[in-house]
Amino acid sequence: MGRWNTRKRLDETPREGQALARTLSWPHLVAMGVGAIVGTGILTLIGIGADKAGPAVLLSFLIAGFVCACAALTYAEMATMIPASGSAYTYSYVVMGEIAAWIVGWSLILEYSLVVSAVAVSWSGYAAPLLQNWIGMPMALMQGPHAGGIANLPALFIIMAVGALLIAGARKSASLTLLLVVVKLSALALFVWFALPHFNAANLEPFSPYGFTRAMGPDGVERGIMAAAAIIFSAFYGFDAIATAAEETKNPKRDLAIGIIGSMFACAAIYTLIAVAALGATPFTRFANSPEPLALILREIQQPGAARFLAITAVITLPTVIMAFFYGQSRVFFVMARDGLLPHGLSKVSARGAPVRITLFTVAIVGVIAVFLPLDEIVALANAGTLVAFTAVAVCMLIMRRRVPDAPRGFRTPLAWIIGPIAVLGCLYLLFSLPQTTHFGFLIWNLVGLGFYLLYGRRHSRAGTGG
Ligand code: ALA
Repeated sequence: MGRWNTRKRLDETPREGQALARTLSWPHLVAMGVGAIVGTGILTLIGIGADKAGPAVLLSFLIAGFVCACAALTYAEMATMIPASGSAYTYSYVVMGEIAAWIVGWSLILEYSLVVSAVAVSWSGYAAPLLQNWIGMPMALMQGPHAGGIANLPALFIIMAVGALLIAGARKSASLTLLLVVVKLSALALFVWFALPHFNAANLEPFSPYGFTRAMGPDGVERGIMAAAAIIFSAFYGFDAIATAAEETKNPKRDLAIGIIGSMFACAAIYTLIAVAALGATPFTRFANSPEPLALILREIQQPGAARFLAITAVITLPTVIMAFFYGQSRVFFVMARDGLLPHGLSKVSARGAPVRITLFTVAIVGVIAVFLPLDEIVALANAGTLVAFTAVAVCMLIMRRRVPDAPRGFRTPLAWIIGPIAVLGCLYLLFSLPQTTHFGFLIWNLVGLGFYLLYGRRHSRAGTGG
């Protein structure tokens, strides 16, 4: 039985892909990052964010982006120091011990699973009007009960389709990724092109109708710039894609820093531009909480063709974000099972290397969530998991700076003792700014997790037992 504070030794972490060719440099990394990051956040959450902060959702984007960038830098340091699979979970195991690793791993499972549900719901928001037009599918079958429908079947469909692709052994292809990034960015550029000329400063007044900190409105919805930032935060993560490419990078020290900072800045710039164009073109109340806000704005300014193009682009490109998080989920599950903390049977891979059981299990759970729950609640819970994992990574970075200051690192966080604490405190403040129901749900998730750890993980753990 492993002790709760058993730490995994650094040399126990199996290194991945030691023989990987170093072929990537920073432009590839920036493209990879932008491809993995740009998704539901800008396409759909901008509407939920506008409902929570009004035009000041612009500040929510900047705050969430800044905190996420600080966390990303600490993440890059840990990724080059411990280049093993399992990311935040593995760093926590090495640096802080088993119980911390368990909480982080359990949080990552929540994050990755719920992002799959969230992106599927977002996909459905853009696909639904097209499906209604093309095959006459009734709206009640394309929206969950919270939106007056019966079930969100397109969301279930896309989850099953991507799950089937993964089971069939689909792998990411670099050229397809690049093509999709170009398609995605051109649709967003088109949006700015059409919306910006309609900019009317009066639409930005009053700029911050709900104030800065999270506060409960008379309608029972928590609003404010920070409440929006805590949701919008989701728009910025997904950069793990870059950190995990450390070993394939020609000059990790320089390229990783440029890749992470570059894609964060690129996304922050793209998001700011789109948010300014969207908020200036129409009063935010028109698109607040819309399932397809950017397409709606284009229709409002009499550009139905561009609206359709944007919707089709979202339908084509969002599944890659689903795939990335699906893959991440099975990866974390696999590593936790290898360490003995989760049942090994679930993480078995097929002859083609596809994690069949965990994918089927995930499809069933995230499918039900996507069919019935509203996007903001799903995203809020996913963000709670992510924020805990990011906090842990920043804490790991700071502990390792103290414990082994001279150990080799492929990348060093600049101004570590400023950036690290900003990442920790920023993530905790965003966590606090999530809705209270999310805090409650997250607590339940962790209590279930701790119960599972005590009954199963602790008894089967391999760490410290030589197993
Ligand atoms: N950053 C990803 C998105 O916005 C999770 O969809």
